[in-house]
Amino acid sequence: MALLQLLVGLLLASTVQSKWIVPGARWRDTKGDLVNAHAGCVTIDKESGKFWLFGEYKTQGQTEGGGVSVYSSDDLATWESHGLALKPVNDSAYISPQNIIQRPKVVYAEATDQYHMWWHADNSSYGLLLQGFATSDNIAGPYTFVNATAPLGNWSQDFGLFTDYKDGRSYSLYSNGDRKDARDVYITSFNEEVTALDEVVYRFNKFDLEAPTIIQTDKSYYALMSHKTGYRPNNVVAFRADSLSGPWSQPFMVAPRNTRTFNSQSGFTLEIKGAKKTTHLYLGDQWDSNSLWESRYIWLPMEIDDNKKTLDVVWYDVYDLNVVTGEVTPITGKAYHANEAQVNGSAFKQEANFASTGVIATGIYGNASKVTFEGIEGTGKPQWVSFYYQNTDDMGFGDQPGGTPDRIGGSWQLRRISSVIVNGDVSKIETLYQRDTHKGIILSAPLQLTLNKGANNTITVGGLFNGFDYKGADLDRIIVYPSEK
Ligand SMILES: *[C@@H]1O[C@H](CO)[C@@H](O)[C@H](O)[C@H]1NC(C)=O
Ligand SMILES: *[C@@H]1O[C@H](CO)[C@@H](O)[C@H](O)[C@H]1NC(C)=O
Ligand SMILES: *[C@@H]1O[C@H](CO)[C@@H](O)[C@H](O)[C@H]1NC(C)=O
Ligand SMILES: *[C@@H]1O[C@H](CO)[C@@H](O)[C@H](O)[C@H]1NC(C)=O
Ligand SMILES: *[C@@H]1O[C@H](CO)[C@@H](O)[C@H](O)[C@H]1NC(C)=O
Ligand SMILES: *[C@@H]1O[C@H](CO)[C@@H](O)[C@H](O)[C@H]1NC(C)=O
Ligand SMILES: *[C@@H]1O[C@H](CO)[C@@H](O)[C@H](O)[C@H]1NC(C)=O
Repeated sequence: MALLQLLVGLLLASTVQSKWIVPGARWRDTKGDLVNAHAGCVTIDKESGKFWLFGEYKTQGQTEGGGVSVYSSDDLATWESHGLALKPVNDSAYISPQNIIQRPKVVYAEATDQYHMWWHADNSSYGLLLQGFATSDNIAGPYTFVNATAPLGNWSQDFGLFTDYKDGRSYSLYSNGDRKDARDVYITSFNEEVTALDEVVYRFNKFDLEAPTIIQTDKSYYALMSHKTGYRPNNVVAFRADSLSGPWSQPFMVAPRNTRTFNSQSGFTLEIKGAKKTTHLYLGDQWDSNSLWESRYIWLPMEIDDNKKTLDVVWYDVYDLNVVTGEVTPITGKAYHANEAQVNGSAFKQEANFASTGVIATGIYGNASKVTFEGIEGTGKPQWVSFYYQNTDDMGFGDQPGGTPDRIGGSWQLRRISSVIVNGDVSKIETLYQRDTHKGIILSAPLQLTLNKGANNTITVGGLFNGFDYKGADLDRIIVYPSEK
């Protein structure tokens, strides 16, 4: 019955909205609002098979203390909002709008027959370093605040929660902050009721990592964590072990070097046990500290090989995840390269041996210096288009003395914004956010566009103001994906 409901749900959902997953796009819920659930988790409701997404609720005027939002989905792509699962409470010591309510995680506690929510609870200067706890009889909430406590008397900053599918036991994962005598990450078991902490199972000593999450396979545990670079992404690492108490391996990078984990930070991982395949998903955040409320989500499959002891996050611009079978199908599109595009004004094509055709279109600026891709095939319906770009404004932090543009009196720009115009229609200008990259690293950013049916479309890219300048990022190519059936 549950499976039938799930299938019916899937059919209905697919007629309403995209079931393809597009990392880094503006994800919209069934009402058309941006999905607003950052640094959270996905909890599977065992009875219905539904996925519940919890996360930090951020708005332009209030990027912290907004409470915890909750959404549901049958396919991990179509999200229905259920409002706030944990509402901020004025004058509360721990969940007022002035508090930090970060990285919420929700787990079903069999012993209490309730859903338990845990998170990083703090004051606005991160001086408390506590773990918050709230409960609800329903997965969607509302959750009732219980308390905020120091885990076994210690500090707790970035928070994660892991449940071992072999014995049902849950663990609190937390970095303990930036003080000199901190900079560790803990795995600490909860009690059976998941109401308090039990004992430290392992401590990753002095690696100075944060944003921990653990994914489990039949043989292994992989603990993913990010470095500490504020809201700028970095190369996320993982450790592997046979047992949560270790011994754990040396850390290794989980994505191609210098892609900064495809411009994302770790936060959560999810296992999809399908009828044909088990897929492991990386659920990362693409923070945008210039507009934190608009931060995006980078959800990607991970390829795990327990014999080789490797885990790789794999990039797809657009993919179909069948949650019933567990299969991931990458969608293929048609590429249009910068070497064949028209350049205007001061925009020009420059030798770049790392580019797909040996040249990259650069000098894109404002309205006068643009690049136009021509002869593009369209369907007449919305299509995803991925723009492969390079943006080196922030000087490749880590590769420079001090590693930041601050050293020359510059400021972090973090992203450029390009204008994207289809068939010269300036009444519809799309904004394409292109995050900073290392030099020679090409990443992609998606937009959904409607092209005319036929092969005579143009896509023109210029530069818009990003708070500092009007530059558009350098372009390697665009890939146009088919419309979803
Ligand atoms: C909480 O405080 C805000 C700002 O002072 C106020 O607008 C709001 O009505 C208060 N909410 C409640 C439930 O008291
Ligand atoms: C946060 O808590 C710490 C520890 O109690 C305190 O020193 C600090 O002043 C507090 N910050 C704010 C903004 O209240
Ligand atoms: C809440 O936790 C604090 C420790 O952080 C403890 O002193 C207090 O008794 C707890 N309150 C309740 C109601 O459990
Ligand atoms: C508390 O943190 C300190 C510093 O990391 C560590 O030495 C100590 O063992 C921790 N205690 C517990 C109970 O986690
Ligand atoms: C290039 O700029 C000129 C003058 O502004 C304009 O007439 C022409 O259409 C532009 N071409 C492209 C490909 O954008
Ligand atoms: C293609 O579009 C251009 C202008 O956008 C137009 O001049 C040309 O006639 C079109 N060609 C075809 C075959 O439709
Ligand atoms: C021209 O530039 C201005 C300023 O960035 C921008 O508001 C406008 O949308 C641009 N127009 C086109 C056609 O790109």
